[in-house]
Amino acid sequence: MEEITTTRTLLLQRYDSLENKADILKAPELKRLLSEIKNTAPEHRAQYGAAVNALRQELKDKVMSETEVAVELAPIDVTAPMDANAAIPALLPSSQGSVHPLMQEIARLSEIFEHMGFVVEESREIDDQYHMFETLNFPKDHPARDDYDTFMTVEKDNEGHPLVAPAHTSTMQNRVLKKYRENLERGEAIAAVVPDRVFRNEDLDARHEHTFYQIEGVYVAKGVHAGMLIATLQTFLEEYYGKKLEVRVNPFYFPFTEPSFEFALSCPFCGAETEGSGESKDKACKVCSGEGWIELLGCGMIHPNVLKAADIDPNVYTGFAFGCGIDRLVMMKHAIEDVRHFESAKLDFLRQF
Ligand code: PHE
Repeated sequence: MEEITTTRTLLLQRYDSLENKADILKAPELKRLLSEIKNTAPEHRAQYGAAVNALRQELKDKVMSETEVAVELAPIDVTAPMDANAAIPALLPSSQGSVHPLMQEIARLSEIFEHMGFVVEESREIDDQYHMFETLNFPKDHPARDDYDTFMTVEKDNEGHPLVAPAHTSTMQNRVLKKYRENLERGEAIAAVVPDRVFRNEDLDARHEHTFYQIEGVYVAKGVHAGMLIATLQTFLEEYYGKKLEVRVNPFYFPFTEPSFEFALSCPFCGAETEGSGESKDKACKVCSGEGWIELLGCGMIHPNVLKAADIDPNVYTGFAFGCGIDRLVMMKHAIEDVRHFESAKLDFLRQF
């Protein structure tokens, strides 16, 4: 505890001399305190963890309050064609490169889930129809397959079906369940997240890209229920946005979860009352259009057939799964108005991060 107080004093002193204030959040001393949480004796862990997180939040608030003014930049026309006659832009020396904003945020999301006890796995960019549909309880020729109408390759899998570019990270559910099935025999849970790239045949606009990122979550143990799903997602989102949020679930349909839900959170950026605010539309928040709610992700209790496909007995074990669009989370966090910026490779955009 004393160490936290000393580190706080040290970091606050360093803060004043930093040119890029946000660098304080990357300080090795802070990282070390955070990584110590898991090594702290269980009886002190909650208190220690809360104190370290309070320090990080304090620094974050400080950075936010002093840097917010600078972000008003002219929007970039991502649809503009390349001009072959334009002067060649100055190349960046490699020392000035930076990590892509999506990769920075994926590291952050993974870190939060790791603190919550989840392991992080990678997906793949080419998959077979067995993992895309069969293991996820999509009946043959079922119209629900059309929602995942995606890109296919000319190459075929062993059964003669074209390989696909996955339209969601749920293609990893079966692999994760099988890989960690032994956890259940030891009386432990299967708890994994899979952040990775997915592809959909979309009409492109400011909110739709053919290539984007999702984070899949899978949790299986004895006695898992929907309340745990909701609490897990709420805890994760509150940590990510650094504030208390209201959440809401509505019934939905996915073949691989039953019941299935659409999950919404109260808008982290506006004061709109979640029960209809009566605010005038022109003053309405740009992120949620004054609705107060943002539909964020699909989730539900893992369908018994999905558990069976991984040789897990659904009469003994239950679990939840969720799939959340990462681009959307990041767009909200940094007030990015067009999803196409992420894949545009435009330096004007990338230099802001
Ligand atoms: N894979 C679904 C989608 O992308 C989301 C989801 C994941 C729903 C896991 C339920 C459980 O639309």
